[in-house]
Amino acid sequence: MGDYKVWRVLSLFLLVVIAARGDLSYDFYKTRCPQAEKIVMDVMVNATLSDRRIGASILRMHFHDCFVEGCDGSILIDSTPTNRAEKDFPANFPSIRGFDVIDAAKAAVEKVCPGIVSCADILAFAARDGVHLSHGPFWDIRSGRRDGRVSMFNRVPLFLPPPTSNITQLVTSFAAKNLSKSDLVFLSGGHTIGFSLCSSFNSRLYNFTGRGDQDPALDASLAQTLKGQCPRPPTRVDPIVPMEKTPFKVDTKYFKGVLKRRGLFTSDSALLNDPFTKSLVIKSAADESFFLGNFIQSMIKMSELEVKTGSKGEIRKKCHVIN
Ligand code: HEM
Repeated sequence: MGDYKVWRVLSLFLLVVIAARGDLSYDFYKTRCPQAEKIVMDVMVNATLSDRRIGASILRMHFHDCFVEGCDGSILIDSTPTNRAEKDFPANFPSIRGFDVIDAAKAAVEKVCPGIVSCADILAFAARDGVHLSHGPFWDIRSGRRDGRVSMFNRVPLFLPPPTSNITQLVTSFAAKNLSKSDLVFLSGGHTIGFSLCSSFNSRLYNFTGRGDQDPALDASLAQTLKGQCPRPPTRVDPIVPMEKTPFKVDTKYFKGVLKRRGLFTSDSALLNDPFTKSLVIKSAADESFFLGNFIQSMIKMSELEVKTGSKGEIRKKCHVIN
């Protein structure tokens, strides 16, 4: 066989391998369902009109989806009599919100292109749109994610770091997803929008070491304000508070807050406990385009985590139940 023939056989073989991998692509729905992204954006625009927080809530839902079984819509699946799903794990229930919006987006897309667009892609689009509708940047997303058929309650704590995590635990759990220390910082910047239940950080206010004390790493005046908003446990009321000063706007306030020891969670404050992550917090606080450019890159990495493509998984008919 001449050199040319060998080259042709090789490149044909490569093409077949690439096609079989069924990787994500920018034009995945170009012929299959060209309206898909626009339909999701319209639903998000509508949802934002009645609920300015929805973008933040769906961004968080996407993070919780991607860290457990990859970005495959597993967080959307309801529990059944024989399976307790991710959705019901305490990190998700009751604080994850926006399932109704994803269902609405899926229903709207199904009307136009039945059986084509996955719930996993819809969630990735909606999270990106949520950031944009919160005065944040917009970026292109590769699609072709397929929906998972597995969603297990017990798998959530294996991958999702709790808000009490220290820097070592955060770095380790991000590294398990091939995400770097830089990704940890920029993605924590997701906390530039949204709210938190008091129960997610109450121990920092009232019982940090088990002796009824306050976390010394939390700015004392913020702790005082938060105590006015969050009742001392045990209590059945669990109010929400903004995570930083401008909870509807993507900006650098989150990082500025962290630097002033005003990050809401131990996991936010922890970013100051490593010289490298601290240096990125300082840079992000000072330079919005530095933060946003890097946030986009890290979001793209996160939203492509362990995706199912090609013949893996399925295209769910309804996002909350496997076919
Ligand atoms: C680094 C580890 C992280 C921890 C420990 C963490 C923890 C938390 C906690 C405890 C809440 C409050 C939940 C509640 O009580 O309502 C929260 C909210 C939020 N998180 Fe994170 N998070 C982390 C990373 C991320 C990432 C990577 C993103 C997205 C890129 C993100 C986006 C959000 C958003 C937008 C909210 C507000 C949600 C809403 O308003 O409904 N977080 N996070």
